[in-house]
Amino acid sequence: MSHAVAAAFLALETHAPTLEDTRTRDLFTTDPSRFEKFSVALDDDFLFDFSKHKITRGTLDLLVALAKARNLESRRDALFSGEAVNNTENRAAMHMALRDLSTRPLMIGGENVRPLIEAEREKVFAFARAVRSGEAKGATGLPFTDVVNIGIGGSDLGPAMAARALSPYGSEGPRAHFVSNVDGADLADTLATLDLSRTLFIVSSKTFTTQETMANAASARARLVAALGEDAVAKHFAAVSTKLDKVAAFGIDASRVFGFWDWVGGRYSLWSSIGLGLVISVGPENFTQFLQGGYDIDEHFRSAPLDKNIPALMGLLGVWHRNVMKRGAHAVIPYDQRLARFPAYLQQLDMESNGKSVTRDGGLATHQTGPVIFGEPGTNGQHAFFQLLHQGTDVTPIDFLVAAVPTAADAHHHALLFSNCLAQAEAFMRGRTLEEAKAQLRAQGLNEDEVDALAPHKVFPGDRPSSVMLYRRLDPRTLGRLVALYEHKVFVQSVIWDINPFDQWGVELGKELANRLAPIVENGGASTEGLDASTAGLIAWRRSATS
Ligand code: F6P
Repeated sequence: MSHAVAAAFLALETHAPTLEDTRTRDLFTTDPSRFEKFSVALDDDFLFDFSKHKITRGTLDLLVALAKARNLESRRDALFSGEAVNNTENRAAMHMALRDLSTRPLMIGGENVRPLIEAEREKVFAFARAVRSGEAKGATGLPFTDVVNIGIGGSDLGPAMAARALSPYGSEGPRAHFVSNVDGADLADTLATLDLSRTLFIVSSKTFTTQETMANAASARARLVAALGEDAVAKHFAAVSTKLDKVAAFGIDASRVFGFWDWVGGRYSLWSSIGLGLVISVGPENFTQFLQGGYDIDEHFRSAPLDKNIPALMGLLGVWHRNVMKRGAHAVIPYDQRLARFPAYLQQLDMESNGKSVTRDGGLATHQTGPVIFGEPGTNGQHAFFQLLHQGTDVTPIDFLVAAVPTAADAHHHALLFSNCLAQAEAFMRGRTLEEAKAQLRAQGLNEDEVDALAPHKVFPGDRPSSVMLYRRLDPRTLGRLVALYEHKVFVQSVIWDINPFDQWGVELGKELANRLAPIVENGGASTEGLDASTAGLIAWRRSATS
């Protein structure tokens, strides 16, 4: 860690105690223009309000100084220039190229990849149009009513999240389904409701080796062949992968194989052909709007000064909470039912990217890195885990996401939803003091003994930080904005922590061990010698339960 970075962290740590006696609610009272000062409007469609964090202009300046000490701006420019920023895999991380709707060249490794991207996207769009119109038919001549994406991680979470978020835009396309888990129940339950003669399968896998996806694809293929014969495979399967040779071996018709490139990380691949299921569901025009939303954020991230730069602010606020205030979790609560899978999507994006303990050059990280990300839609979360968020011993920063205009027709429901979102953010910030709790109980007619007994339970500490992302409506462009904002937030934090957010070596060991155990589990007679006593004992227990 350079002297400048150490000094910037130290300045933040020295600054934090100066806020200890301050209440966030008082910051609002003493500065009536706090909301204007601590919020950024991207345009008339998107607002980021971070005024409910207990920070001052001084805090912000110190966070920006830390970003500058880490050369955030030049690291960002290196990312966008197509440099091999993923240093452990020696490749670029240029998912932004997939949504760059300008005409400028997109250079990666000395090659302009724009023509490749546009040609592949056009191929995806043409196939999606054929499926949507009924021109592409199944083996018995019937159009497809259902599309099943078989993939996991980045080859599932993005398209699944987005198809649900944009379901009102998918009414004219086939229904989209997503099978990811190697638990056979996932495929079986999905197929139970479908007519195979009207079902298209998309096998989505960057590597085309992932155990879960290969197992599900093989089972789906077997089900199809049993129902419609071997020749049906060519008509009912499509694939998306960077490993086209491996796809060919599966027997999928070459015209239905869609590629992307190793400079697109799995959890950043929704913008690529991996979005095929989404494109079929919502149509090429809506998918283009989704790309536009991502591009809007890229342009903003590249040009806005750091103290007005939404992803930079999101990242730096997270650093404040994680490293200075020592907060280990971060909640994302969309007050938008159709964003129900957004927290799960973000779990992979954030935790697979920044869940690292080693710096880019292999040293030990000097500060705590990524927090645990979790969330559920509001208002449901309110009735589950908000008790802990309000009164528990740990403070968890929260992102609230909410639309100004409902996509569901009922204005009354949306007024309730919106009010709940703002009420929760206010309650977390404001809290309720002991005196306020007592006054409320007295007003309810309780005697002084009852007031003293009950009041401590009705205290809310407040000063629990949250941001609000307020967007006009959950349309394709807004969704693209939300996804790209979080992608860049994750990048910003990785720069501060000096880690590589684009590799995922931490998933390897479990995969290796699963491959070693699978034959032992499958073959009841195989020896468990050499396994630790716990693993061997659990296998023995399963053997007796299944014998
Ligand atoms: O297990 C982690 C992972 O490698 C993710 O990074 C990736 O998104 C997922 O597996 C699926 O990989 P693939 O697309 O190659 O099947």
